[in-house]
Amino acid sequence: MKKYHITTFGCQMNFHDSEKMAGILDAEGYQETANPIDADIIIFNTCSIRQKAEQKFFSQLGKIKSLKKKRPSIKIAVAGCIAQHYGSKIFEKAPYVDFVLGTQNLHLLKDFLNKDFYGLAIDENPSLTDTDLPIKRYSPIIAYVNIMYGCNNFCSYCVVPYTRGPEKSRTHTSIINEVKELASRGIKEVILLGQNVNSYRSELNFPQLLVKINEVKGIERIRFITSHPKDLSDELILAIKDLDKVCEHIHLPLQSGSSKILRLMNREYTYYDYLSKIQKLRKEVPDIAITSDIIAGFPQETEEDHLQTIRALKEIEFDGIFSFKFSKREGTVASQMSGQVDEEVKSRRLYEIIEIQNEITERKNKKLEGTYQEILLEGLPKKEIEKFMGRTRTNKICIIPKKDDLKEGDVVKILITKANRHSLLGSIV
Ligand code: SAH
Ligand code: SF4
Ligand code: F3S
Repeated sequence: MKKYHITTFGCQMNFHDSEKMAGILDAEGYQETANPIDADIIIFNTCSIRQKAEQKFFSQLGKIKSLKKKRPSIKIAVAGCIAQHYGSKIFEKAPYVDFVLGTQNLHLLKDFLNKDFYGLAIDENPSLTDTDLPIKRYSPIIAYVNIMYGCNNFCSYCVVPYTRGPEKSRTHTSIINEVKELASRGIKEVILLGQNVNSYRSELNFPQLLVKINEVKGIERIRFITSHPKDLSDELILAIKDLDKVCEHIHLPLQSGSSKILRLMNREYTYYDYLSKIQKLRKEVPDIAITSDIIAGFPQETEEDHLQTIRALKEIEFDGIFSFKFSKREGTVASQMSGQVDEEVKSRRLYEIIEIQNEITERKNKKLEGTYQEILLEGLPKKEIEKFMGRTRTNKICIIPKKDDLKEGDVVKILITKANRHSLLGSIV
């Protein structure tokens, strides 16, 4: 039996694309292996969001070269955002790569398997939203479901509109059918995926789609990523409030607390627009957890702009953030802007952001000690066999002692006994 190995970098979209490539390979009679040395085909599903992500991939790719020399029959494929962005340049950089498979052409993986020459597939795929690929689901409890592909926002720092193409929504009927099929196989939670789920459009808009998914029997929880602040409507806020399965958590990237920087980023909202949306969210859904993304050291960011971000973190009190140093991406507007910020300044600002947020995250988690929460059991945490791991509806990781009558997929009520920055400890009530 032929074997394959996939290394995935980047976001949930990529993780799910890897599930699709694994699905195709399983259907072709291949078997997955954790060890690349045993594999007949090695796939790198890549990310180009920041330079670091790109470097990580190229250094791993370099290590494969000697393997290919030893066993020339092994096929090396590069998929994902770097594949889409660099196209045939990957062959120039690494001639031992056999195929470059762009983000809209995963279905061509099957055709490539039997080819002996270079394969390149990076064209736009107009039928992307109708392509029905077999999917290998790595979790029996939680499933990702694409509701849309691509992005039209062109935030000035971001490569995604170039690597994922223009926005395209799937029909609501094909989404609902997929969710029903997942429910029939025991999936309890669906995570709806899109670069900007709020701009989902078919015959339904996003809140209307949530209403339909909420009706699917067997599904207990609905999550979605990512939301863009400019498209967060009152209708969506009410959907989160009223629909029982929609979890009380939203990831709403702010990026900067300075309205001047937000304008340069082409985010289409001011800090005050953002703040008023947060206030509305919290008024309607008081316990909602809000997480965010922050970029430190965007071009022309002054010390005052940075302090506005710090002030914003203190004012909003996010449950958690992902923060990054601004990274120049080829082809983006921000990479050409004047006033690029020095590396040391970026590092220091990032450090300050992380310090402030760590303190806030810990303080917010501590408030949960002594409260009752509902968690969905996902399985064992790493290296622990006597414990179970689950998430609260607000997406906080929670560890509880194992009990014989509990199993993956159960929704249980627990008492939070201790809160740390990154996880909660609980006991069954
Ligand atoms: N579609 C999502 C996520 C995009 S990528 C959204 O719009 O929210 C995830 C995060 O990476 C972004 O929110 C941003 O904070 C960060 N990011 C994107 N490009 C970046 C760059 N060039 N440098 C640093 N961080 C970046
Ligand atoms: Fe990138 Fe902006 Fe699109 Fe998000 S909304 S993927 S940050 S361009
Ligand atoms: Fe995701 Fe990275 Fe592409 S974050 S969309 S895999 S550039």
